[in-house]
Formats: sequence, C-alpha cells, structure tokens
Amino acid sequence: MKNILVTGGAGFIGSNFVHYMLKNHDYNIINLDALTYAGNLDNLSDVENDPKYTFVKADIRDKAAIEEVFEKYSIDTVVNFAAESHVDRSITEPEIFLTTNVLGTQNLLETAKRHWKVNPDDKYSSEFKSGVKFLQVSTDETYGALGKTGMFTETTPISPNSPYSASKASADLVVRAYHNTFGMPVNITRCSNNYGPYQFPEKLIPLMINNCRNNKSLPVYGDGMQIRDWLHVSDHCSAIDTVLHKGKDGEIYNIGGNNEKANIEIVKLIISTLGKSEDLIEYVKDRPGHDRRYAIDNTKITTELGWSPAYTFEQGIKETIEWYLNNEQWINKITSGEYTKYYEKMYK
Ligand code: NAD
Ligand code: TYD
Repeated sequence: MKNILVTGGAGFIGSNFVHYMLKNHDYNIINLDALTYAGNLDNLSDVENDPKYTFVKADIRDKAAIEEVFEKYSIDTVVNFAAESHVDRSITEPEIFLTTNVLGTQNLLETAKRHWKVNPDDKYSSEFKSGVKFLQVSTDETYGALGKTGMFTETTPISPNSPYSASKASADLVVRAYHNTFGMPVNITRCSNNYGPYQFPEKLIPLMINNCRNNKSLPVYGDGMQIRDWLHVSDHCSAIDTVLHKGKDGEIYNIGGNNEKANIEIVKLIISTLGKSEDLIEYVKDRPGHDRRYAIDNTKITTELGWSPAYTFEQGIKETIEWYLNNEQWINKITSGEYTKYYEKMYK
C-alpha cells in the first residue's frame, strides 16, 4: 500500500481519516473531492503543504477525471467516503443520492478494475495485482431499523428505509458484485453514527451545539426517543485502518462502540454542558420514515481483527463540545450563506 485514493476527504469523516493516515503511516494520500456543500478544505489547511498529501477537485462520477487520477498517481488502494450523506436531504432531493452514491461508486470500481487486473482484457481472469484493495465506507443504516431489542450483525439482511440508506445499500451490492464476478479485493465497512470535529452542522450533534450556543431553539424530531449508536470519528478511522491492513477480501465488517443513546438524552447533555435551559427544546414534526433504533454488534471486527474503540462516549462528547466552542470561526463560516437558506427551508 503506497498510494491511497481517499474520496470525499474534504468532508467530516474523510478529513479526519486524512489526518489520521498522515499521522500514523508513511503513505501518499490523494484526496479527491468534488467540494459539494459538505466538502470544506479548511478541514485540511494544516496538512495542505505535506509532501505526502495531494488534493484533486473532481467528481467520482467523472470517468475521465478518475481515469487520470489512477494513471497519474498509480493508485493501489481506494477508500471511498464520497457520498451524499444526509437523510433529510435525501427526502427532498433523492436523485443525487443515486447518481453520486451508486453510479459514482461503480465508476470508481470500474476504473480500479481496469488498472488493477493483471489481464484487464480477459473477462474470465480474476487475477488482481497484489496489494490492491477497494474499501467501501458504508453505514449501519443499510440494515434498516431495529425494535427495542437486537443488534445488527454482518448477516442481518439489508433493509434500507430512506433514499440515503437505499443508495448506500445499492452501492454495497455493486461492490459485492465486483468481488464475486471479477475477483476484486474489496471490503465493506458499516459504521454507526459518528461524532467529533469537522462534522457539518446539519447533523444532530453539531446542529444542537451550534443552536445552543446561539440560544436558538433545538428542533427534536417526534418524541426524541429514537436511538442511535454513537462512535467517535477517530475510532471509525482506526477501524478503517485496521480493515485496510487486516480485513479478509470480500468481507463486511460492522463498526460500533456500544454507545446507544436516545436523541433527547444527547440534546439534554449538550444543554447542560453549555449551561443553557431546556426551554430551548422544541419538539417538531417527525422525519418521514424515521428509523427508530440502530445498534451495532461489533463482535466480528473486535474478535477477528483485534480492533477496539479508544473513546468512551463521555470523554468523546466532552471533547467534541469543547472543539466546536473553540472553533467558532470554522462554524461561523459554514453557517453563513447557503446554510442559512437550507436551515430556513428545512425547519420553517
Ligand atoms: P460528509 O457529507 O461530511 O462528506 C461527504 C464528502 O463527499 C464531502 O466532502 C463532499 O464534498 C464529497 N462528495 C459528495 N459528492 C461527491 C462526488 N460526487 N464526488 C466527489 N466527492 C463528493 O459525509 P461524512 O459524514 O463524512 O460521511 C462520509 C462517508 O461515511 C459517507 O459515505 C457516509 O455514507 C459514511 N458514513 C457516515 C456516517 C456518519 O455518521 N456521518 C456513519 C457511517 C457511514
Ligand atoms: P442525523 O445526525 O441526521 O443522523 P442519521 O439520521 O443519519 O442517524 O440524525 C440523528 C438523529 O437525530 C436522528 O434520529 C434524527 C434526529 N434529529 C433531530 O431530532 N433533529 C435534528 O434537527 C436532526 C438533524 C436530527
């Protein structure tokens, strides 16, 4: 592994992953990102002059651009984060979720196949160059919703409910097909909800911190009793790193840290940490098709690959709240302009 193509590296998890890999390894990192509303090069300003780091502005759906990057940088590993990632946006604008998340992934796979197959013109050969790998960053949301009990394992049937999760599940199936049909070395990781620095404030935790610090109302969907299983983003990065190095070809690995919390618990924790009043809470109309509960069974990655999370939720959320309070400039820049229009349309 020498030349890693990280797609979507200017987003929340991707930028954390770029930092993580530059710090922990001696690989060349090529960050390819279309810089949609969610992509932000400010997340990477501290590494922009690192000789092991290159940024390319391109769309994963652009065949010529992806071909050029594989050629120019001799890509041997792909970690595909690039995606439309927000459930609420997938309800109002589903189409881009399918083109980016499904067709974009297929374009990356096809280009990788052409470059990595020993005999690219022989359709019956499944021999790939050694040391290549395609890692698809997926989500627990592909499994659908749980009732009060049970957890998602890697053998839980895929049963997505939102256009976002349906697009991610579809992409996973295409990745699986490239492994089964062509023999491409792939892994799929399915992680639970992430939190931490550089998350776009359309998602629950940074949105609530930002509104709270500005004394704005805190829009809780439905009864606020939906449950998510939270993982600090740096633990997600270390899990992906583990799968890249130790994952068995063709396998799916769930990633989670056993931290189930109801949304309202998180909102109240943010309020009390910031010393504000619970009067800020505003129960609003529920999200259509809202998944009630997610929970990851992480037995496979912990026992087979020896990964475990480093953060407790208590420590992680404390540091995360502090990070947003200490990085006012970062959040103020993002929440001016387009974000204001999004917020008004979404929450009016
Ligand atoms: P994000 O929205 O913060 O970042 C997505 C990045 O992809 C942005 O930088 C954006 O500019 C880029 N992008 C979007 N469309 C593109 C395109 N067509 N071509 C190139 N780049 C494009 O998302 P995130 O929260 O960092 O999530 C990253 C990945 O992890 C996604 O695939 C998501 O499904 C998955 N995931 C996220 C979570 C979570 O809790 N956030 C949990 C599990 C899995
Ligand atoms: P989100 O961060 O959008 O992640 P996901 O939907 O992918 O799990 O939302 C997390 C939970 O918080 C989800 O149950 C929806 C809820 N939520 C609110 O109650 N209010 C909000 O303003 C947002 C953005 C989310």
